[in-house]
Amino acid sequence: MRIDIITVVPGLLEGPFAHSILKRAEDKGLAMVRVHNLRDYASGKQKQVDDYAFGGGAGMVMSIEPIAKCIEALKSERDYEEVIYMTPDGQTFDQKMANALSLKGNMIILCGHYKGVDERVRQKFITKEISIGDYVLSGGELAAAVVTDAIIRLIPGVLNDETSALTDSFQDGLLAPPVYTRPADYEGMAVPEVLLSGHQAQIEQWRFEASVRRTKERRPDLLEG
Ligand code: ADE
Repeated sequence: MRIDIITVVPGLLEGPFAHSILKRAEDKGLAMVRVHNLRDYASGKQKQVDDYAFGGGAGMVMSIEPIAKCIEALKSERDYEEVIYMTPDGQTFDQKMANALSLKGNMIILCGHYKGVDERVRQKFITKEISIGDYVLSGGELAAAVVTDAIIRLIPGVLNDETSALTDSFQDGLLAPPVYTRPADYEGMAVPEVLLSGHQAQIEQWRFEASVRRTKERRPDLLEG
């Protein structure tokens, strides 16, 4: 899978994909992330990517021409299954959406800025609009990094231990159970005995019950329906 991210602040996306699991995914040839500076597709000396809103009002609007040029250049090189726009008025991102997107082919992610993009960009190019939550970020870049991370770690082969994505919080509709490592006793705080017992069936039962308990306490909404 290849993910092309279009942004006016490429510096914000330089870090996340060069490390850890995301870097390993790239090294293994399972996922590739490329960041494109929208300004490279702007014309004129100023390389302007935004303009005043028709009708007035505060804030600039991202223009359609440089975005169209960038998306069309990418599409001339390969096929894309989704063109995603990161925006607070999009569909709220969750694990279910991450699972679905991890099965897709190549994707373009457009990061919004200022007051957003000219509505005609959304009409002409965008196939999916995603919000990462009910709050407003200064731009779509950090949201794009969140979505990209959540998708890439689900691609088969990216995680060393295939079961570790399967046992994540939300993957089965429940929060993950508590986990422990050595020492078995830290200043009188003992690890639940069953986890030291070696009885795998009992351990799985304990984990399931602990997951249900934790979900009931912290996220009862997940258990509704
Ligand atoms: N851009 C600004 N805020 C955002 C959010 N909450 N989700 C996605 N993109 C955004």
